[in-house]
Amino acid sequence: MSTIAPPSTRTAAAVTWDVADGIATVVLDVKGQTVNVLSRAVKDEFLACFAALADDSQVRAVAFFSGKPENFVAGADIEEFVKLTSAAEAERLSADGQEMLERMARFPKPIAVGIHGACLGGGLEFALACHYRVATDYPKTQIGLPEVQLGILPAAGGCQRLPRLIGLRAALDIILAGKTERAAKAFRLGIVDELVPPAILADVTLAAARRLAGGWRPKRKRPGGFVGFLLDGNPLGRRIVFRMARKQVLERTGGHYPAPLAALEAVEYGLRHGMAEGLTREAQLFGQLAVTDVSRKLVQIFFATNQLKKDSGVANAPPPGRVERLGIIGSGFMGAGIAGTAVAQAEVDVRMKDADLGRVAQGILAARAILDDRLKRRRITKFEYARLVALLSGGDTYAGFGRAELTIEAVFEELGVKQQVLREVEAVLPPTGVFASNTSTIPITRIAAAARAPERVIGMHFFSPVAKMPLLEVIPGARTEPQTISTAVAFGRRMGKTVIVVKDSPGFWVNRILAPYGNEVGHLLAEGASIEDIDSMAVRFGFPVGPVTLLDEVGLDVALKVAGVMQEAYGDHILPAPGPGIAVLVQEGRLGRKSGRGFYIYKDGKKRGVDDSVYSLLGVHPNGGPRPAEILQRLVLPIVNEAARALGEAVVRNPRDGDIGAIFGFGFPPFRGGPLRYADDLGAERVVTDLERLAERYDARFAPCEVLQEHARAGTKFYA
Ligand code: NAI
Repeated sequence: MSTIAPPSTRTAAAVTWDVADGIATVVLDVKGQTVNVLSRAVKDEFLACFAALADDSQVRAVAFFSGKPENFVAGADIEEFVKLTSAAEAERLSADGQEMLERMARFPKPIAVGIHGACLGGGLEFALACHYRVATDYPKTQIGLPEVQLGILPAAGGCQRLPRLIGLRAALDIILAGKTERAAKAFRLGIVDELVPPAILADVTLAAARRLAGGWRPKRKRPGGFVGFLLDGNPLGRRIVFRMARKQVLERTGGHYPAPLAALEAVEYGLRHGMAEGLTREAQLFGQLAVTDVSRKLVQIFFATNQLKKDSGVANAPPPGRVERLGIIGSGFMGAGIAGTAVAQAEVDVRMKDADLGRVAQGILAARAILDDRLKRRRITKFEYARLVALLSGGDTYAGFGRAELTIEAVFEELGVKQQVLREVEAVLPPTGVFASNTSTIPITRIAAAARAPERVIGMHFFSPVAKMPLLEVIPGARTEPQTISTAVAFGRRMGKTVIVVKDSPGFWVNRILAPYGNEVGHLLAEGASIEDIDSMAVRFGFPVGPVTLLDEVGLDVALKVAGVMQEAYGDHILPAPGPGIAVLVQEGRLGRKSGRGFYIYKDGKKRGVDDSVYSLLGVHPNGGPRPAEILQRLVLPIVNEAARALGEAVVRNPRDGDIGAIFGFGFPPFRGGPLRYADDLGAERVVTDLERLAERYDARFAPCEVLQEHARAGTKFYA
């Protein structure tokens, strides 16, 4: 085996190779890291390795692999990226990467790569520069270009090579959304040439290298067939594709995210002016994006989520208990969502229980719908589908709960009912079984008061729809023991959720900071603002939907219940608007999207416009209302204020968890970094001044909390 590192640092070499029968087998294994990342040091090793291989007359072709068990290359080194201080420096970094990959592409001996595990960003750009790609049909073999999710673009030739390989539309689909695809999809798209089981990856890749060495070249079909030719294959068709893509990006991002537009430009420029010019433009655009505030914010979120993936949720936690069997009590809307997601993501046995078999059957069907959807979108194979469906079962008794290491209840939101099922199931649970409640408003400590083992009772607050919403709040009660916390956190993560541990106080974190935002809708309507104006101001700020639409999505009955609890708990500053409020809509059976009617009307699953009769029901008249800028302030600053106040009460452990909760829990604009980061950007002094002005004009609901005032006085921030 050869390495290019000097003998003293031999063990640190990331790139090693062997030559046998004319084929060099190169292995990348960055020491001390769980995944391979492409840093400058690795690049240097690569260059030295390939220089040696070029000179070695015995070598006729190269087969390239990762030495990591479940990772090919995770991408470029983000730690290096965040240290960049100027656009020029970033542009140089990109140009260096491009130059290295150009050398691979022009390497006089063919290179075949064998891909197993994540092949992302710079890792895929590297593979694209090589001459043949084999990938394993393994779930963790995920292939994609996620750069725009970090506010940048694929800048080592990805914007040039991918469209040339798989066609313009397919490439834009991946690049502009920062998508990652399973290997089977990547194979169908033509990103990889062969799809194989992991056991034969090495053999197949080596065989390909041998064939390439003998002069064989893969025949690749023209991407996209005839339509592909019409649209992707000629300048006129491409103009149409670019115009449509730009429009879609603007609709999706509201113009808040520059990266997808820049990526579009890099692709377009390259197809119009040729590869070399395209690479230059790609590097320039990368340079500009790398130092934007948007990119900085997105990278911070990336780091925060990564940290949370390693966070057990409690200091000095004992290792989490292993969960193989999950019990679910209440197979309604949430219970079914949790069941289906647990099966799909964590692949555990799920046993559901409800009051009667009819409801259980409905719950199983609803849980299965999550698997149906994955099958339809080819996220799982038919074989996997059959295996996963078989994991779902249920009944109207607690049969099967005796082996459930974790049970989650999602019965009606009533303390008595929750305590009753807790007592019932505790009688059959295994001695270390954990009981979690999905309550959205009842204190966990109160539920746990009925328990024989309150140390194994905890809150796991999922958001609806469970399969789609990325956040989970884990809520220890007063007597919950650390291992119960780490078990709930670990299982939430296995379900694919980003987990924050929050204090057992009314509304926990997300509903708490959301409450004044939803509450303000009533005040704005009472003052003559229209439903459309309120929603559009929030969307312009960067929320995915406005607060009125959000209420409809959550369900007005659910929102009413939460609002009642919040007003009771925080009556000093969550002050309801005059008039009947949404109670009157609930009475009329207008529950939001789920009943086809709320503030808006819904038909065939689509929002059809405002239901004008809502105004008269609420006794309000849209007549312009407050100025748009003030509407926005009145929606957003109370979130910031409540977040600061709740952080002061240690509802979340730190600003990071709080911001992640707001972004993943209700869509606080990611490019603003979360409410606390946003407060830091505005400066506490300005936030306090604005809130004081609103409090003077209206009432105490806007009064700035002590925590914000303290930061304003001291000139300090939430983030050091
Ligand atoms: P749901 O009404 O759809 O489902 C409740 C289910 O529990 C019903 O199928 C009912 O038959 C069953 N049930 C009631 N008593 C039972 C008992 N003694 N034994 C077994 N099953 C029993 O309600 P949903 O919306 O699923 O809510 C369930 C829980 O999840 C509530 O605590 C709610 O606050 C919470 N939650 C709801 C969210 C939402 O958006 N709907 C979001 C987050 C939490």
